[in-house]
Amino acid sequence: MCGIVGYIGSKEAAEILLDGLRRLEYRGYDSSGLAILDASSTLHVSKAVGRLSELEAKLEAGPLHGTRGIGHTRWATHGEPSERNAHPHMDESGSLAVVHNGIIENYQELKAELQQQDCTFQSDTDTEVLPHLIAREQAQGASTLLEAVRKALSKARGAYALGVISKDDPDTIYAARLGSPLVIGVGEGEYFIASDVPAVVSRIQKVIYLKDGEVAALTPDGVKVYTLAGDEVPVTLSDVTIRAEDAEKAGFETFMLKEIHEQPRILRNLLRKHTLDGRVNLAIDGLSNDYFRKLNRVMIISCGTAYHAGMYGKLLMEHVCNIAVEVDLASEFRYRDPKVDPGTLIIPVSQSGETADTLASIRMARAWGCKVLSICNVQDSSLVRDSDAVLYTEAGPEIGVASTKAYTAQLMAFVLLTLAMGRARNEITPEVETELLEDLAQIPDAIHYVIDRKDDINQIAEKHHDGPSSLYLGRKFNYPTALEGALKNKEISYQHAEGYAAGEMKHGPIALINEYLPVICICTRTRDEVYEKMISNMKEVEARHGRLIAVATDGDTAVKAFAEDIMYVPAIRDEFSPMVNVVALQLLAYYAAQARGTDIDKPRNLAKSVTVE
Ligand code: M6R
Repeated sequence: MCGIVGYIGSKEAAEILLDGLRRLEYRGYDSSGLAILDASSTLHVSKAVGRLSELEAKLEAGPLHGTRGIGHTRWATHGEPSERNAHPHMDESGSLAVVHNGIIENYQELKAELQQQDCTFQSDTDTEVLPHLIAREQAQGASTLLEAVRKALSKARGAYALGVISKDDPDTIYAARLGSPLVIGVGEGEYFIASDVPAVVSRIQKVIYLKDGEVAALTPDGVKVYTLAGDEVPVTLSDVTIRAEDAEKAGFETFMLKEIHEQPRILRNLLRKHTLDGRVNLAIDGLSNDYFRKLNRVMIISCGTAYHAGMYGKLLMEHVCNIAVEVDLASEFRYRDPKVDPGTLIIPVSQSGETADTLASIRMARAWGCKVLSICNVQDSSLVRDSDAVLYTEAGPEIGVASTKAYTAQLMAFVLLTLAMGRARNEITPEVETELLEDLAQIPDAIHYVIDRKDDINQIAEKHHDGPSSLYLGRKFNYPTALEGALKNKEISYQHAEGYAAGEMKHGPIALINEYLPVICICTRTRDEVYEKMISNMKEVEARHGRLIAVATDGDTAVKAFAEDIMYVPAIRDEFSPMVNVVALQLLAYYAAQARGTDIDKPRNLAKSVTVE
């Protein structure tokens, strides 16, 4: 995935574009570039390999002036990170430039055709076919640049969000989208394109969500939108629903730390919004109680952290709703032969709503007649558009690449959905529902409690951060927590970490244990036999001289007897404990990464959402 931005108005474009790219850098950070049209309609391009700071330094030495421009920050797919593969890409004459997020799947075919017509390519990217195609359409008689853009895009297969600027049409920038996110920001006498709203939120009053297959023409006087066939379509102006400060670090040293701290507020708001008088009040437009009653199966599909949320959702739904629930990685689901039918509810889970495998999976499931209820964070994302119903996680923009607040919000969404479904299926009484909600109401404060003890967690991380590997163990509701804790550690500290179901330890991983291996055990006190089993697992680790770190319930003296270090959490009902326990592990990973000196918000090789296979 990459980030794109564009500006047309009366101000200097370069600083505005750089600011937008800074906010989009989470989408990719191996190279970046700008194309700016100056007052005499000459197109200037500047590109740099590496973080955006490299481009900033270049522009400081050689500023670009002009009031129209486009910019790009790249996560390499086709072609190594290099200046010649960085966007914007130009046509042969240097008249027009294109920035692109997505993949042109038939680019090899198109490139071969263009090369047969003696077109010379400068890069290894799929994107470069686009400026050449547009230029060919102009040469072959397209009467306007808009027509050339439309015709060129009609030949492209795949996914794109793009911005086009040309000296032949200096008072317009063009934008188009198919399958990749793109918004148009409306300011006062100025217009923007961006991969997401936070990139331009402080500058705009309204937003236009471009639909798939639409092309927009932005001038200093307004925006017109067309279909690829050239028909003008009405423009819908939407309110901006996020606040400018949501896209800032607000005094925290990283977005990740800020987002960890936001969790109590987000979960409290979700609870407030969806509960009333001790009952869940979750109206899911498009899916009736009768539908939930008759449902015979649920299939949860997601990737990465969202997959761990799905694992939790399965455990909880089976526990409460008396229904068969399966959970699968979207990248596996789409290539196997799943036995789903119209009686199966598909629940994709995604922060971004743009993950390619998740989108492909639900399109398959819809074709098989299944209803799709998404748990998603981003409004108007591709996932939301493709769903029958949506439960928003309402966590606000998540900018740190490692997901934190979106995860706990996904867990909370599963709790609310489970209670609503359990009631529709007559599996829980009003009394039990009220009791569960009372326990749930303790979660935000319990998370605060963990965050307030972050200095203790920091000390534990400092002590254990330098080994090559670590093992995370959990059971039942906290098995997904173990996987998520290990994933966080890997992503941001680059220390190998493995999450395991604690009961499986004796079936292999126990061989890893020696006096150097940190073993993080989630051993909060529970009402069932899982706690005792975790204690046994911890004793097995201790007996082999592993370095035991426990997540344990405040006041638990049994764990104290053999764990080297303990991260304490308040006593919480078992079913809901993952929302609290994972916060300790997020902080542990955070401080380990800090001690190891990594770039926490932008870990190497990662992009915030994986919009390609
Ligand atoms: O946007 P999505 O929730 O669909 O993204 C899924 C995964 O790519 C994402 O959770 C990834 O694993 C993050 N890097 C986790 O921190």
